[in-house]
Amino acid sequence: MSEIIVNGEEKKEKKKISLSFIQPSGAFTLGNYLGALKNWVTIQDSGEFNCLYAVADLHALTVRQDPKALKNQIYQGLAVLLASGIDPEKSIVFQQSHVHQHAELAWILNCYTMFGELSRMTQFKDKSAKYADNINAGLFTYPALMAADILLYQTNFVPVGQDQKQHLEIARDIANRFNGIYGKTFTEPEPYITKSGARIMSLAEPTKKMSKSDPNQNAIITILDTDAEIIKKFKRAVTDSGSGVRMGEGKDGINNLINIYSAVTGKETAEIEREFEGKGYGDFKMACGEVVAETVRPIREKVNEYMNNKDYIDEICKTGAERASIFAQRTLDKVYKKVGLVVKK
Ligand code: TRP
Repeated sequence: MSEIIVNGEEKKEKKKISLSFIQPSGAFTLGNYLGALKNWVTIQDSGEFNCLYAVADLHALTVRQDPKALKNQIYQGLAVLLASGIDPEKSIVFQQSHVHQHAELAWILNCYTMFGELSRMTQFKDKSAKYADNINAGLFTYPALMAADILLYQTNFVPVGQDQKQHLEIARDIANRFNGIYGKTFTEPEPYITKSGARIMSLAEPTKKMSKSDPNQNAIITILDTDAEIIKKFKRAVTDSGSGVRMGEGKDGINNLINIYSAVTGKETAEIEREFEGKGYGDFKMACGEVVAETVRPIREKVNEYMNNKDYIDEICKTGAERASIFAQRTLDKVYKKVGLVVKK
């Protein structure tokens, strides 16, 4: 994808490709930012990769969405990407549905994905329990679309959270299977799980991941929460009956708060424990609320700016989709040829 010039000599050095998508379902949370987006920015700014970041709008359709709300969520997803520091000059930013090759490759990959392996996906099992009245085929074949997202760009690395590892695994299996039949067609993607990819838990039930679809607003900090709301939610955060600010087994609430404080300030656990030596949970919750509010504020302000300038978002996405589409088509042509379809002349 890129070329560099070394000692006046043109040397083709392909940068590795890093790709990740975010689903536009529900409000974006502090967990999304600290656990994913912040890392995406680090990966982008390292300059070591060609990065693609998108909003997975087609995946969102696997559960019933209100069309108006969905549209707003898609814009918000893009605004959050940009506000978090994803730079369209450095990364390719787009909406999944704008690059038609995703749906096309997904169809083909569906034919190389087994019923049995899809049945074993824990997310499918969880979501079919949760949405028992809408267990649609899209929900079932969701991993084939995600595999298409990844394989279209010959992606090397996919920064994902623990909950998406199984989907990445199946994408590798599909790539492997296809390559085995037709010869090398797809790069096998690897997960990119960074140490700082903090796993942020719910403030109300700290054994559960902070989820943007959680109906309990006190459990989650969203990127759009005001300073006052953030501080209030931290004050109410569930902790155990102990008092010292120290990590410990079974102290899920306080462990989560220490993790959040650490992710936001960059301080190590030991340093935090020292800082709050002799202080109680109340003081620590207040301090957490304040540092989180400081972190969220500039992002919220930028998100609001972008949301008031949708034309700008549209423009970024148009360029992003055009660029993505060139690479995507290259892979799709290759796939069509390999399986024996006649490529359009
Ligand atoms: N399934 C991912 C999630 O819910 C979103 C996603 C869609 C994705 N396509 C992807 C993530 C490709 C990484 C790569 O978080």
